[in-house]
Amino acid sequence: MSTPQGPAANGAFDLTDPALLDDPHGGFARMRERAPMVRGTVPGAGTPVWLVTRYDDVKTVLGDTRFVNDPAHVPGRGVENIREQVIRARGIPPEYARYVLDGILDADGEDHIRLRRLVSRAFTARRVAELRPRVAEIAEDLLDRLPAAAEDGVADLMEHFAYPLPITVICELVGIPEEDRPRWREWGAALFAPDPAGFGAVLRDMVGHIEELIVRRRAAPGDDLLTGLVHVHDEDGDRLGDAELVTMVLTLVLAGHETTAHLIGNGTAALLAHPGQLALLRREPELMPRAVHELMRWCGPVHLTRTRYAAEDVEIGGMTVRRGEAVVAVLAGANRDPRVFDDPDRLDITREPDGQREDHVGFGHGLHYCLGAALARQEGEVALAALLRRFPHLALAVPPGDLPRQPLPGMWRLARLPLRL
Ligand code: HEM
Repeated sequence: MSTPQGPAANGAFDLTDPALLDDPHGGFARMRERAPMVRGTVPGAGTPVWLVTRYDDVKTVLGDTRFVNDPAHVPGRGVENIREQVIRARGIPPEYARYVLDGILDADGEDHIRLRRLVSRAFTARRVAELRPRVAEIAEDLLDRLPAAAEDGVADLMEHFAYPLPITVICELVGIPEEDRPRWREWGAALFAPDPAGFGAVLRDMVGHIEELIVRRRAAPGDDLLTGLVHVHDEDGDRLGDAELVTMVLTLVLAGHETTAHLIGNGTAALLAHPGQLALLRREPELMPRAVHELMRWCGPVHLTRTRYAAEDVEIGGMTVRRGEAVVAVLAGANRDPRVFDDPDRLDITREPDGQREDHVGFGHGLHYCLGAALARQEGEVALAALLRRFPHLALAVPPGDLPRQPLPGMWRLARLPLRL
């Protein structure tokens, strides 16, 4: 039995507890107050974890290479079967495990550096800035069509703007043809459904689709990331193996839109629920970069990192994580830590001092810091700016507390965002 937002009798916090899903920030605050680390269960982890919620400790965990992402890198006995447990817990068909568990996010050390280097050039601040006019064009085009998508003056922003914008951007960048994009939208929705029962089938479809695309790109190269990756793979398989190539495409497309869509959705909902902040931003549009930093802190869509494993005993906030134990950094807990942020539960778009510095950890921290952070921030800025400019009377069609959410542990995602245009 668990108490509302509290730990179960065995002292562990269950992230699937309905009370915690309903009010994750309340739950994370309790964890943060209780201790530097608390025991928890996270679906898909395959093993009990330590949940770390305080800002400094989260940065320590994510910045310390004694924590590894691949449990195989923990020396000694006792962790051999974690991978099998994860495969079972997530319902991954074993023959497809390498596509899910051997990507950039699961790599450590030299392998991680090698994979990251292959794609990082496409996501630098400069390359991203060059994309801005195209992102703006896509946003304007979608907003042109938004009124026609409305019924009785109400349109679902998730369906008609928040999703199509980042999916179009990342697919253009990677090189996913336009006719295939609706399938990615469906696959993403199936993977992130509260009950991803069809996980295996979706995975098979996605991998098959990417393998087909690779064959097509080899025959007819384009001016996109996929062509570049296929070239590297064909020239030098040591730099990018078969499964690694597929996994990279899969990771980029999914991570590139399934998160950003919810930054746009959550951010819009938050602003509309805070009329003072909205009015300020409408009056001073140059605040937008600071606003997006603050929205990432206050309602960032990703609450948890992937599981890390201690490769040796590590001390966190005076407690010891034993070798082989699993740790999850609670980004949303760190982002509301009163040790770092004044009045942390208040949304304040003037909070970040210069709009450049990023104090929150909504994009993670350390070696696995989000590869697409600059792109996501830019999409958020462009999307919100265009939306507010085009619809001066925009309003939530239901009270903020009634917005339908996807009750997923570790995430904050709206199922729909009905807006009165
Ligand atoms: C990593 C969040 C957008 C690609 C991460 C991590 C977080 C995150 C928290 C670190 C996870 C960990 O350490 O366990 C977000 C959020 C986004 C966003 C909140 C939108 C608001 C994007 C976009 C891309 C992307 C647009 C497109 C390329 C990646 C990749 C990694 C990553 C490839 C793995 C990096 C590595 O392991 O070195 N993201 N992300 N993300 N993100 Fe994002």
